[in-house]
Amino acid sequence: MKTSNQLLVLLILVAATVVTAEAQQKDVFADPKNLKVLPKDIGSKELSETMKGFATGLGLRCESCHVGEPNTPLDTFDFASDDKPMKQKARLMLRMQNAINDQHVASLNEIESGERVPVRCVTCHRGRPKPKLIEDELDEQLARSGAEAAVDVYKKLREQFYGSHSYDFSEMSLPMYAQALAARGELDAAVEFATINTANFPGSYYSFFVLAELNAAMGQTSAAIESYERAVELNPRAKPFLEGRIKALTADND
Ligand code: HEC
Ligand code: HEC
Repeated sequence: MKTSNQLLVLLILVAATVVTAEAQQKDVFADPKNLKVLPKDIGSKELSETMKGFATGLGLRCESCHVGEPNTPLDTFDFASDDKPMKQKARLMLRMQNAINDQHVASLNEIESGERVPVRCVTCHRGRPKPKLIEDELDEQLARSGAEAAVDVYKKLREQFYGSHSYDFSEMSLPMYAQALAARGELDAAVEFATINTANFPGSYYSFFVLAELNAAMGQTSAAIESYERAVELNPRAKPFLEGRIKALTADND
Protein backbone atom coordinates (compact mmCIF):
# COMPACT_ATOMS: atom_id res chain seq x y z
CA MET A 1 0.00 0.00 0.00
CA LYS A 2 2.78 2.34 1.02
CA THR A 3 4.72 1.78 -2.20
CA SER A 4 1.63 2.34 -4.33
CA ASN A 5 0.99 5.68 -2.56
CA GLN A 6 4.57 6.69 -3.19
CA LEU A 7 4.17 5.68 -6.80
CA LEU A 8 1.03 7.79 -7.09
CA VAL A 9 2.80 10.87 -5.69
CA LEU A 10 5.68 10.27 -8.09
CA LEU A 11 3.28 9.96 -11.04
CA ILE A 12 1.53 13.22 -10.11
CA LEU A 13 4.91 14.97 -9.88
CA VAL A 14 5.96 13.62 -13.27
CA ALA A 15 2.62 14.64 -14.82
CA ALA A 16 2.94 18.16 -13.37
CA THR A 17 6.46 18.50 -14.79
CA VAL A 18 5.27 17.38 -18.23
CA VAL A 19 2.38 19.90 -18.18
CA THR A 20 4.71 22.76 -17.18
CA ALA A 21 7.21 21.75 -19.83
CA GLU A 22 4.44 21.68 -22.47
CA ALA A 23 3.17 25.09 -21.45
CA GLN A 24 6.66 26.50 -21.95
CA GLN A 25 7.16 24.87 -25.35
CA LYS A 26 6.53 26.89 -28.47
CA ASP A 27 3.69 25.84 -30.75
CA VAL A 28 5.49 23.65 -33.31
CA PHE A 29 2.43 23.68 -35.58
CA ALA A 30 2.18 27.48 -35.81
CA ASP A 31 4.46 28.32 -38.73
CA PRO A 32 5.05 25.37 -41.08
CA LYS A 33 7.91 25.84 -43.56
CA ASN A 34 7.76 22.82 -45.83
CA LEU A 35 4.19 21.81 -46.62
CA LYS A 36 3.95 20.44 -50.15
CA VAL A 37 0.52 18.82 -50.07
CA LEU A 38 -1.39 20.22 -47.09
CA PRO A 39 -2.61 23.82 -47.56
CA LYS A 40 0.22 26.22 -46.71
CA ASP A 41 -2.13 28.43 -44.67
CA ILE A 42 -3.40 25.51 -42.57
CA GLY A 43 -4.21 26.52 -38.99
CA SER A 44 -2.04 25.28 -36.14
CA LYS A 45 -4.94 23.31 -34.58
CA GLU A 46 -5.80 21.64 -37.85
CA LEU A 47 -2.20 20.70 -38.59
CA SER A 48 -1.89 19.29 -35.07
CA GLU A 49 -5.06 17.21 -35.52
CA THR A 50 -3.86 16.00 -38.94
CA MET A 51 -0.54 14.83 -37.48
CA LYS A 52 -2.26 13.10 -34.56
CA GLY A 53 -4.47 11.40 -37.15
CA PHE A 54 -1.36 10.21 -39.04
CA ALA A 55 0.24 8.87 -35.85
CA THR A 56 -2.80 7.07 -34.41
CA GLY A 57 -4.14 6.02 -37.81
CA LEU A 58 -0.88 4.21 -38.57
CA GLY A 59 0.21 3.23 -35.04
CA LEU A 60 3.36 5.36 -35.41
CA ARG A 61 4.98 8.14 -33.42
CA CYS A 62 6.14 11.59 -34.52
CA GLU A 63 9.77 10.38 -34.72
CA SER A 64 8.80 7.60 -37.15
CA CYS A 65 8.38 10.29 -39.81
CA HIS A 66 10.23 13.28 -38.36
CA VAL A 67 13.82 13.94 -37.37
CA GLY A 68 13.93 14.01 -33.57
CA GLU A 69 14.64 11.88 -30.52
CA PRO A 70 11.88 9.83 -28.87
CA ASN A 71 10.62 11.26 -25.56
CA THR A 72 12.17 14.67 -26.08
CA PRO A 73 10.21 17.94 -26.29
CA LEU A 74 8.60 18.58 -29.68
CA ASP A 75 10.47 21.88 -30.14
CA THR A 76 13.74 19.93 -30.40
CA PHE A 77 12.39 18.22 -33.58
CA ASP A 78 13.19 19.33 -37.13
CA PHE A 79 9.68 18.84 -38.54
CA ALA A 80 10.43 20.63 -41.82
CA SER A 81 13.15 18.12 -42.76
CA ASP A 82 12.29 15.48 -45.38
CA ASP A 83 15.15 13.16 -44.38
CA LYS A 84 13.01 10.29 -43.10
CA PRO A 85 11.73 7.99 -45.88
CA MET A 86 8.56 7.40 -43.83
CA LYS A 87 7.69 11.09 -44.18
CA GLN A 88 8.26 10.94 -47.94
CA LYS A 89 6.01 7.90 -48.17
CA ALA A 90 3.36 9.63 -46.07
CA ARG A 91 3.40 12.60 -48.45
CA LEU A 92 2.82 10.29 -51.43
CA MET A 93 -0.05 8.72 -49.53
CA LEU A 94 -1.50 12.12 -48.79
CA ARG A 95 -1.51 12.87 -52.52
CA MET A 96 -3.10 9.50 -53.23
CA GLN A 97 -5.76 10.14 -50.60
CA ASN A 98 -6.59 13.56 -52.04
CA ALA A 99 -6.92 12.02 -55.51
CA ILE A 100 -9.22 9.30 -54.19
CA ASN A 101 -11.45 11.80 -52.41
CA ASP A 102 -11.43 14.63 -54.95
CA GLN A 103 -11.54 12.64 -58.18
CA HIS A 104 -13.10 9.30 -57.39
CA VAL A 105 -15.25 9.46 -54.28
CA ALA A 106 -16.52 12.90 -55.31
CA SER A 107 -17.61 11.61 -58.71
CA LEU A 108 -20.26 9.47 -57.01
CA ASN A 109 -22.20 12.74 -56.99
CA GLU A 110 -22.69 12.29 -60.74
CA ILE A 111 -24.85 9.25 -59.96
CA GLU A 112 -26.39 10.27 -56.66
CA SER A 113 -25.61 13.40 -54.73
CA GLY A 114 -25.30 13.29 -50.97
CA GLU A 115 -22.85 13.50 -48.10
CA ARG A 116 -19.69 11.75 -49.27
CA VAL A 117 -17.74 9.54 -46.86
CA PRO A 118 -14.13 10.74 -46.94
CA VAL A 119 -11.29 8.23 -47.16
CA ARG A 120 -8.77 8.91 -44.39
CA CYS A 121 -5.43 7.29 -43.48
CA VAL A 122 -7.16 5.14 -40.87
CA THR A 123 -9.74 3.89 -43.39
CA CYS A 124 -7.03 1.66 -44.87
CA HIS A 125 -4.38 1.62 -42.15
CA ARG A 126 -6.49 0.77 -39.06
CA GLY A 127 -3.64 1.53 -36.67
CA ARG A 128 -0.81 -0.20 -38.57
CA PRO A 129 2.02 1.23 -40.72
CA LYS A 130 1.33 -1.31 -43.47
CA PRO A 131 -2.35 -2.09 -43.81
CA LYS A 132 -2.07 -5.87 -44.00
CA LEU A 133 -4.99 -8.20 -43.39
CA ILE A 134 -4.46 -11.05 -40.95
CA GLU A 135 -4.20 -13.46 -43.88
CA ASP A 136 -1.42 -11.32 -45.42
CA GLU A 137 0.54 -11.51 -42.15
CA LEU A 138 0.06 -15.28 -41.95
CA ASP A 139 0.87 -15.95 -45.61
CA GLU A 140 4.05 -13.94 -45.27
CA GLN A 141 5.19 -15.84 -42.19
CA LEU A 142 4.13 -19.17 -43.64
CA ALA A 143 6.23 -18.62 -46.74
CA ARG A 144 9.19 -17.39 -44.71
CA SER A 145 9.29 -19.76 -41.71
CA GLY A 146 6.55 -22.37 -41.93
CA ALA A 147 3.29 -23.20 -40.18
CA GLU A 148 4.53 -23.22 -36.60
CA ALA A 149 5.98 -19.72 -36.92
CA ALA A 150 2.78 -18.53 -38.59
CA VAL A 151 0.72 -19.90 -35.71
CA ASP A 152 2.99 -18.00 -33.28
CA VAL A 153 2.47 -14.81 -35.24
CA TYR A 154 -1.30 -15.33 -35.09
CA LYS A 155 -1.21 -15.77 -31.31
CA LYS A 156 1.01 -12.73 -30.78
CA LEU A 157 -1.09 -10.49 -33.03
CA ARG A 158 -4.26 -11.68 -31.34
CA GLU A 159 -2.80 -10.94 -27.91
CA GLN A 160 -1.71 -7.48 -28.97
CA PHE A 161 -4.57 -6.37 -31.21
CA TYR A 162 -7.70 -8.25 -30.11
CA GLY A 163 -10.53 -5.75 -29.72
CA SER A 164 -8.83 -3.14 -31.94
CA HIS A 165 -9.75 -2.62 -35.59
CA SER A 166 -6.32 -3.67 -36.88
CA TYR A 167 -7.12 -7.31 -37.65
CA ASP A 168 -10.16 -9.53 -37.99
CA PHE A 169 -10.15 -12.07 -35.18
CA SER A 170 -13.82 -12.93 -35.51
CA GLU A 171 -15.27 -16.43 -35.69
CA MET A 172 -15.19 -16.85 -39.47
CA SER A 173 -11.81 -15.31 -40.20
CA LEU A 174 -9.51 -18.30 -39.53
CA PRO A 175 -11.84 -20.96 -40.96
CA MET A 176 -11.98 -18.97 -44.21
CA TYR A 177 -8.21 -18.66 -44.18
CA ALA A 178 -7.87 -22.40 -43.48
CA GLN A 179 -10.12 -23.17 -46.45
CA ALA A 180 -8.03 -20.90 -48.68
CA LEU A 181 -4.88 -22.72 -47.52
CA ALA A 182 -6.49 -26.08 -48.23
CA ALA A 183 -7.44 -24.93 -51.72
CA ARG A 184 -3.76 -24.14 -52.24
CA GLY A 185 -2.82 -27.62 -51.08
CA GLU A 186 -1.40 -26.49 -47.73
CA LEU A 187 -3.42 -28.94 -45.67
CA ASP A 188 -1.14 -29.23 -42.63
CA ALA A 189 -1.21 -25.51 -41.99
CA ALA A 190 -4.94 -25.43 -42.73
CA VAL A 191 -5.65 -28.04 -40.03
CA GLU A 192 -3.46 -26.14 -37.54
CA PHE A 193 -5.35 -22.89 -38.04
CA ALA A 194 -8.75 -24.56 -38.04
CA THR A 195 -7.82 -26.27 -34.76
CA ILE A 196 -6.82 -22.98 -33.12
CA ASN A 197 -10.19 -21.54 -34.10
CA THR A 198 -12.08 -24.37 -32.38
CA ALA A 199 -10.12 -23.55 -29.21
CA ASN A 200 -10.84 -19.82 -29.56
CA PHE A 201 -14.52 -20.40 -30.41
CA PRO A 202 -15.52 -23.64 -28.68
CA GLY A 203 -19.21 -22.94 -29.42
CA SER A 204 -18.75 -22.32 -33.13
CA TYR A 205 -20.48 -24.84 -35.37
CA TYR A 206 -18.77 -23.56 -38.48
CA SER A 207 -15.28 -23.92 -36.90
CA PHE A 208 -15.84 -27.60 -36.13
CA PHE A 209 -17.39 -28.23 -39.52
CA VAL A 210 -14.38 -26.75 -41.34
CA LEU A 211 -11.96 -28.66 -39.10
CA ALA A 212 -13.88 -31.89 -39.79
CA GLU A 213 -13.71 -31.32 -43.53
CA LEU A 214 -9.98 -30.68 -43.34
CA ASN A 215 -9.39 -33.72 -41.11
CA ALA A 216 -11.32 -35.76 -43.67
CA ALA A 217 -9.23 -34.39 -46.54
CA MET A 218 -6.10 -35.36 -44.61
CA GLY A 219 -7.39 -38.91 -44.09
CA GLN A 220 -7.66 -38.32 -40.31
CA THR A 221 -10.92 -40.26 -40.12
CA SER A 222 -11.42 -40.54 -36.36
CA ALA A 223 -10.49 -36.88 -35.78
CA ALA A 224 -12.93 -35.94 -38.57
CA ILE A 225 -15.76 -37.95 -37.00
CA GLU A 226 -15.09 -36.36 -33.61
CA SER A 227 -15.26 -32.86 -35.13
CA TYR A 228 -18.44 -33.68 -37.11
CA GLU A 229 -20.05 -35.00 -33.93
CA ARG A 230 -19.18 -31.82 -32.06
CA ALA A 231 -20.64 -29.85 -34.98
CA VAL A 232 -23.88 -31.87 -34.68
CA GLU A 233 -24.09 -31.02 -30.97
CA LEU A 234 -23.62 -27.34 -31.74
CA ASN A 235 -26.12 -27.27 -34.60
CA PRO A 236 -28.64 -30.11 -34.34
CA ARG A 237 -30.49 -28.91 -37.45
CA ALA A 238 -27.45 -29.84 -39.53
CA LYS A 239 -27.58 -33.41 -38.20
CA PRO A 240 -28.86 -35.18 -41.35
CA PHE A 241 -26.29 -33.38 -43.49
CA LEU A 242 -23.38 -34.05 -41.11
CA GLU A 243 -24.35 -37.68 -40.64
CA GLY A 244 -24.21 -37.95 -44.41
CA ARG A 245 -20.64 -36.64 -44.30
CA ILE A 246 -19.69 -39.16 -41.60
CA LYS A 247 -21.27 -41.98 -43.58
CA ALA A 248 -19.39 -41.04 -46.75
CA LEU A 249 -16.18 -40.95 -44.73
CA THR A 250 -16.62 -44.41 -43.22
CA ALA A 251 -17.81 -45.80 -46.57
CA ASP A 252 -14.61 -44.46 -48.21
CA ASN A 253 -12.60 -46.33 -45.64
CA ASP A 254 -14.23 -49.71 -46.18
C1 HEC B 1 3.18 8.92 -41.09
C2 HEC B 1 4.16 10.01 -41.05
C3 HEC B 1 3.93 11.14 -40.11
C4 HEC B 1 3.73 11.11 -38.76
C5 HEC B 1 3.55 9.87 -37.88
C6 HEC B 1 3.71 12.46 -38.30
N1 HEC B 1 3.91 13.31 -39.35
FE1 HEC B 1 4.11 15.34 -39.25
N2 HEC B 1 4.25 15.45 -41.29
C7 HEC B 1 4.22 14.35 -42.13
C8 HEC B 1 4.25 14.84 -43.51
C9 HEC B 1 4.21 13.98 -44.75
C10 HEC B 1 4.30 16.24 -43.44
C11 HEC B 1 4.35 17.21 -44.63
C12 HEC B 1 2.98 17.37 -45.26
C13 HEC B 1 3.03 18.18 -46.54
O1 HEC B 1 4.07 18.21 -47.23
O2 HEC B 1 2.00 18.80 -46.88
C14 HEC B 1 4.33 16.58 -42.03
C15 HEC B 1 4.42 17.89 -41.54
C16 HEC B 1 4.51 18.20 -40.19
C17 HEC B 1 4.74 19.53 -39.69
C18 HEC B 1 5.00 20.80 -40.52
C19 HEC B 1 6.50 20.90 -40.73
C20 HEC B 1 6.89 22.05 -41.64
O3 HEC B 1 7.55 22.99 -41.15
O4 HEC B 1 6.56 22.01 -42.84
C21 HEC B 1 4.74 19.45 -38.32
C22 HEC B 1 4.95 20.58 -37.35
C23 HEC B 1 4.49 18.06 -37.98
N3 HEC B 1 4.37 17.34 -39.16
C24 HEC B 1 4.40 17.58 -36.70
C25 HEC B 1 4.14 16.26 -36.36
C26 HEC B 1 3.98 15.79 -35.01
C27 HEC B 1 4.06 16.64 -33.76
C28 HEC B 1 3.73 14.46 -35.09
C29 HEC B 1 3.42 13.49 -33.95
C30 HEC B 1 2.19 13.77 -33.23
C31 HEC B 1 3.74 14.11 -36.50
N4 HEC B 1 3.99 15.23 -37.23
C32 HEC B 1 3.53 12.83 -36.99
C33 HEC B 1 4.20 13.03 -41.76
C34 HEC B 1 4.04 12.55 -40.47
C1 HEC C 1 -6.55 3.47 -49.96
C2 HEC C 1 -5.83 2.89 -48.86
C3 HEC C 1 -4.80 3.78 -48.18
C4 HEC C 1 -4.99 5.04 -47.67
C5 HEC C 1 -6.22 5.90 -47.67
C6 HEC C 1 -3.73 5.42 -47.06
N1 HEC C 1 -2.81 4.42 -47.23
FE1 HEC C 1 -0.87 4.46 -46.62
N2 HEC C 1 -0.58 2.62 -47.41
C7 HEC C 1 -1.53 1.86 -48.06
C8 HEC C 1 -0.95 0.62 -48.48
C9 HEC C 1 -1.64 -0.53 -49.20
C10 HEC C 1 0.42 0.66 -48.06
C11 HEC C 1 1.48 -0.43 -48.22
C12 HEC C 1 2.11 -0.36 -49.56
C13 HEC C 1 3.27 -1.32 -49.67
O1 HEC C 1 4.21 -1.21 -48.88
O2 HEC C 1 3.22 -2.17 -50.56
C14 HEC C 1 0.61 1.93 -47.41
C15 HEC C 1 1.82 2.36 -46.90
C16 HEC C 1 2.01 3.56 -46.22
C17 HEC C 1 3.25 3.98 -45.62
C18 HEC C 1 4.58 3.21 -45.66
C19 HEC C 1 4.63 2.30 -44.44
C20 HEC C 1 5.91 1.52 -44.34
O3 HEC C 1 6.11 0.90 -43.28
O4 HEC C 1 6.68 1.50 -45.30
C21 HEC C 1 3.03 5.18 -45.02
C22 HEC C 1 4.02 6.02 -44.25
C23 HEC C 1 1.64 5.51 -45.25
N3 HEC C 1 1.06 4.51 -45.99
C24 HEC C 1 1.03 6.65 -44.80
C25 HEC C 1 -0.27 6.99 -45.05
C26 HEC C 1 -0.88 8.22 -44.59
C27 HEC C 1 -0.20 9.28 -43.75
C28 HEC C 1 -2.15 8.22 -45.05
C29 HEC C 1 -3.20 9.30 -44.92
C30 HEC C 1 -2.79 10.58 -45.47
C31 HEC C 1 -2.34 6.97 -45.80
N4 HEC C 1 -1.18 6.27 -45.77
C32 HEC C 1 -3.51 6.63 -46.44
C33 HEC C 1 -2.85 2.19 -48.25
C34 HEC C 1 -3.43 3.40 -47.90
